[in-house]
Amino acid sequence: MLSMVNFILHTWFFSGVSFAFYFILHTCLYAEHKMNIVECRDVKKVYHQGHLAVTALDGITLAIEQGGFVALAGPSGSGKTTLLNIIGGLDRADEGSVTLDGNALGEMSEAMLAELRLRKVGFVFQSFNLIPVLSAVENVEFGMLLQGVPAAERRQRAWAMLDDVGLAGLYHRRPSELSGGQQQRVAVARAIVSDPAIVLADEPTANLDSATGKGLLELMLRMNETKKATFIFSTHDKMVMDFARRLVMLRDGKVVEDTRK
Ligand SMILES: Nc1ncnc2c1ncn2[C@@H]1O[C@H](COP(=O)(O)OP(=O)(O)OP(=O)(O)O)[C@@H](O)[C@H]1O
Ligand SMILES: [Mg+2]
Repeated sequence: MLSMVNFILHTWFFSGVSFAFYFILHTCLYAEHKMNIVECRDVKKVYHQGHLAVTALDGITLAIEQGGFVALAGPSGSGKTTLLNIIGGLDRADEGSVTLDGNALGEMSEAMLAELRLRKVGFVFQSFNLIPVLSAVENVEFGMLLQGVPAAERRQRAWAMLDDVGLAGLYHRRPSELSGGQQQRVAVARAIVSDPAIVLADEPTANLDSATGKGLLELMLRMNETKKATFIFSTHDKMVMDFARRLVMLRDGKVVEDTRK
């Protein structure tokens, strides 16, 4: 719907309508839309394993507000990872629609999705997923390298980011020379350094002890407040749920509870 209205507006503009009028309409439209960074409408996803069909998502309708700090919880197999992957454009919905920062993901090619992920999304995985042969600073720089950020700026931003997450002085350590909590901090630094619109974290504290996990959540909350990035994270951990400003509970691929604090 939004893209259709946008198309009409663009056509109108290029056919000679006054710029001021176009600008006001476009701004209003965009401002209204910006309020929700994610919009899922009746999203369904079925995995096929041989003859077996597994319904991972069974009609998810969910809007996530810009700047949100949202936890997805629910039993194992309830669809948390699947939903995060679909929101982040790593996987596609079978039915329904997903919009990320105004982009209708179902209408985008693989190449467009890759570009969108690079520009807009930071991922933090349960198992950190750092590149083992790169140092901490090189891991943080990696996304900016793909984005074509010049070398000197890359290094400067990566250093500053590592300082921010409490890893000053550990810039040149490889992941194997860092603790689990330190590796996860590098992963958060890497996810956030390019100022993504949204950070998707799949059980980011699952491999951390509770004190380290709490430290990581405080860090993410600070990043949410200072960088204004939206965070959506999945978890099984009560402490993590308590940190969230909104708790979305999934069961059997459906939203069964949605609590704002
Ligand atoms: N690639 C896949 N192939 C087949 N089935 C899958 C695949 N990925 C997920 N599933 C199934 O989809 C359902 C939802 O899985 P998902 O990983 O999203 O759950 P989850 O809530 O993240 O679980 P957990 O808390 O254990 O991480 C499960 O029944 C799972 O077995
Ligand atoms: Mg999962």
